[in-house]
Amino acid sequence: MTDRRLSGKRSSMIEGGMTGNGDDDGRNIRRQLRLRKGAGRMGDLDPGLMDATEALDGIGSAIGRTPLVALSRLFREETFRVYGKLEMMNPGGSAKDRPALRIIREAIRSGDIRRGTTVIESSSGNMAVSLAQICRGLGLRFICVVDPRTTESHLRLIRLLGGEVELVSSPDPVSGDYLPARIERVKQLQRQIGNGYWTNQYGNPNNYLAHYETTMPEMMEALPRIDYLFCGVSSCGTIRGCAERLKDGGLPTTIVAVDAAGSVIFGGAKGTRKFPGLGAAMVPPIARAELIDRIVYATERVCVDMCRELLRSEGILAGASSGGVLAAIRSLRDDIPPGSICAAILPDRGDRYLDTVYNDEWVANNV
Ligand SMILES: Cc1ncc(COP(=O)(O)O)c(C=O)c1O
Repeated sequence: MTDRRLSGKRSSMIEGGMTGNGDDDGRNIRRQLRLRKGAGRMGDLDPGLMDATEALDGIGSAIGRTPLVALSRLFREETFRVYGKLEMMNPGGSAKDRPALRIIREAIRSGDIRRGTTVIESSSGNMAVSLAQICRGLGLRFICVVDPRTTESHLRLIRLLGGEVELVSSPDPVSGDYLPARIERVKQLQRQIGNGYWTNQYGNPNNYLAHYETTMPEMMEALPRIDYLFCGVSSCGTIRGCAERLKDGGLPTTIVAVDAAGSVIFGGAKGTRKFPGLGAAMVPPIARAELIDRIVYATERVCVDMCRELLRSEGILAGASSGGVLAAIRSLRDDIPPGSICAAILPDRGDRYLDTVYNDEWVANNV
């Protein structure tokens, strides 16, 4: 483990019950729609408009209110307690169900998504699965721009859910990254299709607002206090929404961001990353570094080792970034005062990583 300071923050490298998707919101939307429908009866309702309450029905109603469990076996030796928020229990298998639902719902409400709109996103995995699931439920066409790092299981899931996959096979010639190439393809598709809506998870405020309104309140309600929050970062939607909610509540929680070695979100040199989930090759426009107290960089090795330890000790099959988040807690164990309560967000399910994290041969050759 190495320490370095970054814009005044400590950073280190490790080597080795509330209302879910917002009942209040649902009531508000229903109220607004009653008003709009009333207007429609008088002859001015646009048949192209969609009803935003539809997004909260069916599969949308199953998003959020995920369990928070004590990880007392994994952290048996410690003098502090650790609770894991099992975001893998969302119907799409990840925390991304929450922003996907809110982004689509708000775009329907604003009229940006109408009947016949094609939803487009650049994603290397979970966001695409979540959007495909919600778009299928609403009868919307969905196109996902991916790159060769997207796992075979994510691709199969996206297609099964009715999503169309657009593969960008070569990186951007200037930066050498896939992300700018994927975004360029999204913009191209928007121009070609004409009525395409780019959900833009890296820049859309509804990404972090979903966590502000649901993920963090659920944890605040379940725990008497939260001394430390450990959260993985990529678009930074989860950490921003959760950190802003804690700060707005006047809570003095220490916010720890867990990033991938090789990510440039908080500066540093760009490197290759093998797992989808943690890290980014650019600074996400919605990132707010000033909300973060400490940054821990997790290597692929620690992600794999900790995922396997979590499985052995707690029987929880989680994705790579969950391993990184839990390894970050262990790496800071000497700094966490006895009696502290730590909350860790575990972003996705492990069955999408059976061919990587949980495959000995893959690990031997790649990590
Ligand atoms: C598995 C996994 N972990 C962590 C993250 C980071 O979440 P966020 O994009 O909200 O920063 C993501 C985001 O895609 C993810 O898929």
